[in-house]
Amino acid sequence: MNNHITIFDTTLRDGEQSPGYSMNRSEKLSLALQLERLGADVIEAGFPIASDGDFQTVREIGKTIKTSSVAALCRTRQEDLDRAVAALEFAAKPRVHTFIATSDIHMKYKLKLNRDQVLESAVKAVEFAKTHYDDVEFSAEDASRSDPEFLIDIFTAVIEAGATTINIPDTVGYALPWEFGELIRTMKKRIPNIQKAVISVHCHNDLGLAVANSLAAAQNGARQIECTINGIGERAGNASLEEVVMAMETRKNNMDFTTSVNTREIYPSSQLLTQITGKRVQLNKAIVGENAFAHEAGIHQHGVLNNPLCYEIMTPESVGLTSNKIVIGKHSGRFALRKKLESMGYMLSNEKLNRAYDKITRLADEKKTVNDHDLISVMSGMNDTAEK
Ligand code: KIV
Ligand code: ZN
Repeated sequence: MNNHITIFDTTLRDGEQSPGYSMNRSEKLSLALQLERLGADVIEAGFPIASDGDFQTVREIGKTIKTSSVAALCRTRQEDLDRAVAALEFAAKPRVHTFIATSDIHMKYKLKLNRDQVLESAVKAVEFAKTHYDDVEFSAEDASRSDPEFLIDIFTAVIEAGATTINIPDTVGYALPWEFGELIRTMKKRIPNIQKAVISVHCHNDLGLAVANSLAAAQNGARQIECTINGIGERAGNASLEEVVMAMETRKNNMDFTTSVNTREIYPSSQLLTQITGKRVQLNKAIVGENAFAHEAGIHQHGVLNNPLCYEIMTPESVGLTSNKIVIGKHSGRFALRKKLESMGYMLSNEKLNRAYDKITRLADEKKTVNDHDLISVMSGMNDTAEK
């Protein structure tokens, strides 16, 4: 079985849709270029029916991006499809991504359509998109809360109509990894023409399980994962691209999946998004948070300074950082403090180190963390004893 996972980045669509992450045209364009450098196979550039601005932006991204496919999202309505098709006019590798909800709750309260009407609308949309472009993705919104028998029917029908990717979203982040894996396994086994399409997943993070669900899906046959930089997206966000990719990379002996992502572009991508939106990621965010490669506790610092593998399961360089961070705080030990001071040019005897250590841990108790300026000021206060 082909173990290559297509990375479909939706930072510019699902990510941008979330409060606080709106981006203008030139910001979206520069992020799209960074996503191309990162090696995203598909960049979902926007939802062209949403606004004139989004339409123009998708068009411009389509004109600019050459190696990644560019996707435009649309409902199965004709006016949506027309906008998406037009927005992709100049794209080198265009993909129409059309969706409709398939869960009973969405069909009843949102769409006010029955199953036959939803299936008919999906098939018509895919047939129409197919008259313009080869690459057509169909998503069954709220799939994880839909009747699997209806999913089999609708996916079979859209594949027959020409869909080349079928997407199974956990729209409300409700699934558990083992049941989501089972759903993907069932689709793979029971959709009769499944060999003509790629199975994709799109997991939201309402229970903090988006990455786990995406990996469980891959283990059970999904070959496209939809995700975003820093995990941004509606409500609690989408599966985080950096976590999905680095989980596969770090545990490749156990999972044996490959992606086209250049992992060294992960940190620059995260930083660019942060700069554009002004929204920082939480300190302890996996892979890209400020503390992801920082060590403060003395025992950890000692281990990492002797051999980083003691406390790091991937190298900081592998995700585009230049090094890890040894943070001096009240939990730090003398070993790390000596190394830190030596790196700043202070060579101390054991006795002087002990005195400096006492002063610095007392300062850390008051200030919580101690920066280089604090260290310099402590050392200059010990002028008689510190040789620079
Ligand atoms: O969460 C979702 O179901 C979506 C679809 C449009 C793919 O974003
Ligand atoms: Zn979504």
